[in-house]
Amino acid sequence: MSNETLEALCAHRVIPVVPALASEDTLALASALKDGGLPVLEMTLRSENALELLRALAGDVDLLVGAGTVIRPEQVDQALDAGARFVVTPGVSPAVLVRCRELGMPVIPGVATATEVIAALDHGIQVLKLFPAEASGGIAMLKALAAPFPEVRFVPTGGVSAENLESYLRLPAVKAVGGSWMVAPALQGDFAAVARLTAEAVSVAAEARR
Ligand code: 3PG
Repeated sequence: MSNETLEALCAHRVIPVVPALASEDTLALASALKDGGLPVLEMTLRSENALELLRALAGDVDLLVGAGTVIRPEQVDQALDAGARFVVTPGVSPAVLVRCRELGMPVIPGVATATEVIAALDHGIQVLKLFPAEASGGIAMLKALAAPFPEVRFVPTGGVSAENLESYLRLPAVKAVGGSWMVAPALQGDFAAVARLTAEAVSVAAEARR
């Protein structure tokens, strides 16, 4: 199943995974990502204020915002209500995937085994997050897992960094990567560093296309 929103998201090739910070900091973080050339982000639903922040960010028409860490079906409803345009989930939950289909919400489920890939394919989903990418075996794991599934495209996430980004993006099975390395300086309030790391990631992504 192809989807315009997921295509637009993955065309950036790097999806920043963003924690819920204080409101002002989250808005500054989103601006820094845009300044660096990545007008997309996945807000992880791991804090009380994450949905509220998602709603604030979703009001920005120049930003493509989704919800991450969606692990229960009711969170799909909440994410849609808050303005999320896509959902990322760390595993393959039939209840979450069915709810996404019912609501027309694009979803990238997480997989780390062939059985999970097959389960996602049974739901008609072919763009899958390899999670946790580095801890489950990194590049070698991705190549081995991709081999039996030529129709699947992966979004490795978890342990992706400025150092290994290009190696992942050069793999034909990799559609995009997700990661938080460019966001980390925001925890110290250094939004200029966020913009710089983001711009560097964008530049590596452009280089990996050649
Ligand atoms: C997460 O679990 O928050 C995401 O997979 C991001 O992982 P990372 O912080 O290793 O980039």
